[in-house]
Amino acid sequence: MLRWSLRFNNADTIITFRIMAVIFIFLFVGSCKEQKSNYYASGRTFAIATDHALASEAGKKIFQSGGNVFDAYVAASFAISVLRPQSTGLAGGGFALVKSAKTGKIEAYDFRERAPQLADEKMYLDSKGNVIENQSLFGYKAIGIPGNVKGLLSIHNKYGYLSLEQVLDPAYRLANEGFSVYEDLHTAIEKSKDDMNPAARNIFLRKGEALKTGSVLVQKDLANTIQNIILHGEREFYELETAAKIVKAMRVNQGIISLKDLKDYKVIQRKPLSINFKQYEIISFPPPSSGVFLFEILKFLENQDIKSLNDESPLDYYRMLVESMRIGYQDRSIHGGDPDFSLVPVDSLLSQDYLTDRTMEVLAKSKAQVDSSGEMPKTLESYNTTHISVIDSMGNAVSSTHSVNYIFGSRIVIPGTGLIMNDTMDDFATSVGTSNAYGLVGGIKNLIKPNKTPLSSMSPTFIQENGQLRIALGAPGGSFIPTAILQTILNRLEFNMNPYESVASPRVHHQFQPNLVFAEEELSSKIKSMEEFGYKFKFTPNRAKVFMVEREKSGLLHAVSDPRGQGVPAAY
Ligand code: DON
Repeated sequence: MLRWSLRFNNADTIITFRIMAVIFIFLFVGSCKEQKSNYYASGRTFAIATDHALASEAGKKIFQSGGNVFDAYVAASFAISVLRPQSTGLAGGGFALVKSAKTGKIEAYDFRERAPQLADEKMYLDSKGNVIENQSLFGYKAIGIPGNVKGLLSIHNKYGYLSLEQVLDPAYRLANEGFSVYEDLHTAIEKSKDDMNPAARNIFLRKGEALKTGSVLVQKDLANTIQNIILHGEREFYELETAAKIVKAMRVNQGIISLKDLKDYKVIQRKPLSINFKQYEIISFPPPSSGVFLFEILKFLENQDIKSLNDESPLDYYRMLVESMRIGYQDRSIHGGDPDFSLVPVDSLLSQDYLTDRTMEVLAKSKAQVDSSGEMPKTLESYNTTHISVIDSMGNAVSSTHSVNYIFGSRIVIPGTGLIMNDTMDDFATSVGTSNAYGLVGGIKNLIKPNKTPLSSMSPTFIQENGQLRIALGAPGGSFIPTAILQTILNRLEFNMNPYESVASPRVHHQFQPNLVFAEEELSSKIKSMEEFGYKFKFTPNRAKVFMVEREKSGLLHAVSDPRGQGVPAAY
């Protein structure tokens, strides 16, 4: 076992540190208990964690009216598209891990946005080769071919019990009858309104002002689009009236998505990625997701006996945690991309030899790397992207992250459809070494090519024990997604925290560039002395929100929606 120490051998320092740690744990656990009831639910039949109480309720209601977990997932996903247009929508894309208890099989559905046929490597560069600011982020050119409708309907077709009409009914009603605008939605509109096109402003503004918290948001056009999807299935979105409206708006506004792009869109079934960790099997989404980098970090840490490291010297533990993240994200920036276009060396990245070499590198360093390259993420707030985790007593489960990428995506609504279009083209590397909205640098493997899928941080994950599904989890949060899932897994499996604390406990994050440790304020007293070793900190709330469900051996089901957000889980 490879060990490492910051050599804090001054007895006073150790005593002071321990007293501070006890006070910290006392205060933190106290505050967790206070908030827990909003963000935690339990039951024995069904559990779902989403980012809005009404989406969780929609899933639960569909399950209770004779649907299964897969119906509940599709219902909750369509509902959250209506409830959180700042995060996801029918014109977005995503990943879903799906486990059927009957077959024991786990499937990975990739229904992420893809680059249109007319896209090319230089499409966001000016004649001098410089990146044109915001062109991959706002407006028609930023839009990738959407996959959510095809992905969700494929899963429903294969696994659902109920009709599409029943499953989409909650979403239809929420769009048609409206719901109360909540703080997070109001603020997201406020922050995005200046870049919205007139059709978007029509829906989300009143007299030029963002809809106020407590006012009612009705989305009649979106209700009509959902109704048409109920009638015509996926063809509505990819071939019929809705497709025609999308293509017409593209033509008029110099967008590049064609009817052929829509018609040719394919959901890709990928082989789930799995590793052993202690007595568990952890399954995550393969490339173009970042599941492999999450696993690389986890396997790296497994080699360090982190439990004793954390017990004996928390500073060493956090330093190792940060260094493992730096390595994982460095590899992400080089190797991350669409595996159908270039090799992502999954086996090598996870091989013991490679991980040992990287560990030796870290141990040889007495100070953190001094490097000031890289850009800050555009925002550290988290309004965008969403995750749904759902499970039943049999162990049927779905873990799915989906998104329109940035806050309100491209900020374009296609007139007459109510559809917020994604801006997921920004997840490509607009040129080698350029940062995207999350401050992530991309390499050659993530350059744009027609029909290619951009690299993603979304990493829906399952944990199994003896072949039984135990935990489904995932998160929105851009670059913070893999490290948030990582720490939730460690909290639960390594440090034996309960499900709620595993999600709620404060986190750190490092993404190679910028060279900063993003840490939650509650950890400040615990880790700030790492500055002596060359680390620079940015104390900020962790922008990832974890949504987790768990099925204990006793049959008890837990659902947790991260208290960093406004989501509410449901269970019975
Ligand atoms: O796929 C990705 O990596 C991004 N489009 C996810 C964006 C996200 O999670 C935003 N969260 N705050």
